[in-house]
This record gives sequence, structure tokens and C-alpha cells, in this order.
Amino acid sequence: MTTDTTTKDTAPGAPAPGTTILDARGVTMRFGGLTAVNGVDLTVNSGEIVGLIGPNGAGKTTFFNCLTGLYIPTEGEVRYKGQVLPAKSFKVTAAGIARTFQNIRLFGNMTVLENVLVGRHTRTKEGFWSAVLRGPGFHRAEKASRERATELLEFVGLAHKADHLARNLPYGEQRKLEIARALASEPGLLLLDEPTAGMNPQETRATEELVFAIRDKGIAVLVIEHDMRFIFNLCDRVAVLVQGEKLVEGDSATVQGDERVVAAYLGEPLENDPGAAEAAEVEAAEAAQASETPETPETSETSEADTTTDTAAGKENDR
Ligand SMILES: Nc1ncnc2c1ncn2[C@@H]1O[C@H](COP(=O)(O)OP(=O)(O)OP(=O)(O)O)[C@@H](O)[C@H]1O
Ligand SMILES: [Mg+2]
Repeated sequence: MTTDTTTKDTAPGAPAPGTTILDARGVTMRFGGLTAVNGVDLTVNSGEIVGLIGPNGAGKTTFFNCLTGLYIPTEGEVRYKGQVLPAKSFKVTAAGIARTFQNIRLFGNMTVLENVLVGRHTRTKEGFWSAVLRGPGFHRAEKASRERATELLEFVGLAHKADHLARNLPYGEQRKLEIARALASEPGLLLLDEPTAGMNPQETRATEELVFAIRDKGIAVLVIEHDMRFIFNLCDRVAVLVQGEKLVEGDSATVQGDERVVAAYLGEPLENDPGAAEAAEVEAAEAAQASETPETPETSETSEADTTTDTAAGKENDR
């Protein structure tokens, strides 16, 4: 992966580390008689990676939808950088919050580069007449957009696939492309809904590095994931949602050690945990490979099967 973990590209005007940028208070979302999210408070500070975990149906995606204008919360308020969020998703994106979806939403018949260009539309000022007349202003803006989109593809490690159709990418790369498209709107906060669902352990590890690199660019991250190794490695803070309510919030050690979280979600660690065994195997294989060949290729290339369909494990519940 070609991620740059230095801070030299930190977004201009990014708030000082530790400033609250997202402030959700008492967010409640009801669907008829069902309360999917119930009075949830959550903050994200600049420079932070915050995790949101919980069992299936706990309300995690619904909460994301409330943060991104897809749903208007039944009760509560969401502020981004002190301003109450607008009720339309494109306005939320323009305000600085971008997201990826549990069920991948790419334009399958467009190229990888075009998908990222679509993500830039909230940041381009050229209007209808400019596009029709195609004057110098239009060409300048288009060139700048392409350059930025290419830069983002390099950042996520997909520049070599710029001309491929999105639907021909392997599953893990489609998830990376979704991240590049979200970054194209130049967000201050990125919401990731199960970014490693369906990935193999190597791809998951590469995604972990990518999220760190995104944070190092001055973008705060709020991430939903069921892979606890990923969450506890990555996050400064983790909030646990159970049946729509926030059960616990704290650092990884606090959350992992909380009896209520263990009972409601994590469960007791298995003596013969197959996930742990698989991860240990991968670690051993990587260590062996590293000692043999110092210049190893990108890890994501190992899954280069030319799959054509989205086999997303996610559910289409966030229309
Ligand atoms: N648009 C909707 N209309 C009615 N009920 C909904 C809607 N969206 C979500 N729900 C319900 O709200 C609850 C929370 O769902 P949600 O998808 O937010 O859970 P989740 O924590 O993201 O689960 P998972 O880990 O499986 O993705 C579920 O009972 C779900 O069926
Ligand atoms: Mg979900």
C-alpha cells in the first residue's frame, strides 16, 4: 500500500488536536414502534479515531444515518464544528462529513477514477453553463479534480487501477475505492461503516494502516466494525451500542474489560479461537516473508481475483 503516514498534508485550517468536532446529543431514531437509537450522546475530537461497536441490529448504521442527513433524528441534535447539521446528506458532505456504506455503493459501470471524481462534486464550483460551454475555467477545474482524484487513488493504493471498471475490482479494493471517493469531498470527519467486512486478514491489516494514515492527514475517523482486533488496535476510544443505547464508552482496555460488554457482545474469549489462530498464522507468514524479501509488494495484491460482483455482507438498510 502506498500510504503516507507523515503529517505534512494535514488539511489547512484543521482544528487543533483535541477540539470537539462532532457533538451528537440525545440522538433518538424511531421507526414506528421501534426505537433503533435511543438518546445516544457521542463526541469525536479532532485527531481521534473513535470506534462504534455492538451486536447486529444495535442501531450503529442507523446512528450513522442520523449523523449524515440520511435520517432526521426523531429527537436530539448533531453539531459539526459547532453548527447544527443540515437535514440533507449532500449538505452534510459539503459541511465536512463523508462516509462509506456497509453495503458498498459504487458506480459499477464507471471507472475507478470516475468514481472518485463523483466524490469531488461538492468541492467543485463549476456550474451547469460552465460544463456546457466548456471554457478555460471548466478545463482548469477538471484538470485539478483529476489530479486530486489520482493523488487519492495513490494514497489508497489503487492508482494502477484508475481505468478499470469499479465492478471488476476485487471486493477489498472496492472498499478502498469507497474510502478514496469519500476522501474526495475533503472531509474533516470520515465515517466508515464496516470497512473490513469481507476482507482477508492481510487486507484488514492494510486497511488499519490506511485509517491511521487518514488520521495523520488531520481527518478524524468514526468507525463501525465487528472485527474486534481491528477496533481495539486502531481506536483511541470505543463506544458500545446495545439495543439502541450506549452501554459503555472508553479506551480499548476499559471496554474490553467491562463485564456488561462481555455479556452483551464480546463474549468470553474462546480457548481455541479460530480467528486468533488465523491471525497468528498470517503474522508468522508475514514475518517469514519480510525476512526473505525486504522489498515486499503491496499486501492487497494477494487477493487479485477478478471478481465482478459485490458480495457485500452488509444489508441494504440505509436508503
Ligand atoms: N429504515 C428502517 N425502517 C425500519 N427499521 C429500521 C430501518 N433501518 C433500521 N431499522 C431497524 O433498526 C434496528 C437497527 O438497525 P441497524 O441497521 O442500525 O443496526 P446495526 O447496528 O447497524 O446492525 P449490523 O451490525 O447488523 O449492521 C434494526 O432493528 C433494524 O431492523
Ligand atoms: Mg450496520
